[in-house]
Amino acid sequence: MASQVLVAANRGPLSYALAADGTLSARRGGGGLVSGLSTALAEQPGALWICAALSDADREAVRRGVAEPGVRMLPIDPEVYDGAYNGIANSVLWFLHHHLYEIPREPVFDAEFRRRWGSYVTYNETFAAALAEEAAEGAVVLIQDYHLALAPGMLRELRPDLRIGHFTHTPWASWDFLRMLPDDIRSQLLWGMLGADRLGFHTQEWADNFISGATQGSVPAGPERGVRHQDRFTHVTPYPLGVDADELRALAHRPEVDDKLAALRAEVGDLKTIVRVDRTELSKNILRGLLAYRELLTVHPEWRERVVHLASAYPSRQDLTVYREYTESVRELAAAINAEFGTGDWQPVLVSVEDDFARSLAAYRLADVALVNPVRDGMNLVAKEIPVVSEAGCVLVLSTGAGAYEELRADALTVNPYDVTATAEALHTALTMPAAERADRTKRLAVAATALPPTQWLTSQLDALRT
Ligand code: G6P
Repeated sequence: MASQVLVAANRGPLSYALAADGTLSARRGGGGLVSGLSTALAEQPGALWICAALSDADREAVRRGVAEPGVRMLPIDPEVYDGAYNGIANSVLWFLHHHLYEIPREPVFDAEFRRRWGSYVTYNETFAAALAEEAAEGAVVLIQDYHLALAPGMLRELRPDLRIGHFTHTPWASWDFLRMLPDDIRSQLLWGMLGADRLGFHTQEWADNFISGATQGSVPAGPERGVRHQDRFTHVTPYPLGVDADELRALAHRPEVDDKLAALRAEVGDLKTIVRVDRTELSKNILRGLLAYRELLTVHPEWRERVVHLASAYPSRQDLTVYREYTESVRELAAAINAEFGTGDWQPVLVSVEDDFARSLAAYRLADVALVNPVRDGMNLVAKEIPVVSEAGCVLVLSTGAGAYEELRADALTVNPYDVTATAEALHTALTMPAAERADRTKRLAVAATALPPTQWLTSQLDALRT
């Protein structure tokens, strides 16, 4: 049956595992985008989620015709997938939107790049074709993220009757970065995005960057923000994704999390805690965070043996060398700090490399200070989750590079992500903040963090598309 509401994203709400005896079982997929969307989409009866088959087990499920209701996996050729996902989405578009290039060496747009771009086009075409096939007349389609920037334009050509939205979970590159792309590639990218009726971003800044890039460097003022292109108007609007307080608190008080909290308490005793939780992702700025902690221990030696830094830094995108090297540098720097300051009874940094959400929730509950210092980040939900579940009244040290900065700046201690000294001082201020002020700030942060929970975030975009 054709669907009235469709979502397309690289990752799906579930993935398969193949047991030794050949049986397939479905498990919930990982990542913030997936958990937010899964909850929100559950309230849209009959909705269909189209995603890529990511593993051999996923592809085997497609081959056998195994499928869960509401999910369609696309079996993309592994070489095409690698070119699109690793080659373009994560090595080019991610770096562009996060301004991560080391300019003397990168980016390089050569024949190899063109080959990968071909895969990216094929990958997007596969999604557009599947959406066109599954959508009912006049259906609403919401396409997710930089993996699928061309799909809106492709889908519009196939199915002009559809209402097409696209949401970007990353920042959007400023014009100075966007203009690095070869002209024809940049035109394709913008043509793809402008195939949507509505484009959503987490912040006003990313939305303005899009308009500015699409209009070559200037944001036209006007009551309706957007871009006119080929006689159509594409609305460009911020929808700052927030967290669902009830759901998160319920998750944070499961017995499994209570157990992890008890274990953490036993480990840290009465030391103050500075908590961070990230994928080991270059934009998260984990290294400068560790340098700031080292500077805190140097400049304010009174904190030695009185504080511990709990850093969850779980590996991500390890197919790419630069991510593997970054993960290694994080481990090395944490070990160097422990070697420099540690004593028989005190280890200054405890790094956890497991993607263990229950442990992260336990750390959130325990935290005295949360460090969220990305150089650039679409939103950063950790900054929003911690104040909601914190028990001690947690001070948020937040960088100006996080999308969450737009909403949380008033009650966080804000820092320039490159300024290690300022970050060290902010950590000191956070650790010494009086309890009443910490509690007040945390309460206000929790209110701001829950302003647009996932279900409302999705329905406001679907409603806008239907009008
Ligand atoms: C982060 C970003 C999302 C992106 C996701 C992809 O969560 O905020 O924009 O879709 O990473 O991660 P993956 O592990 O699928 O490459």
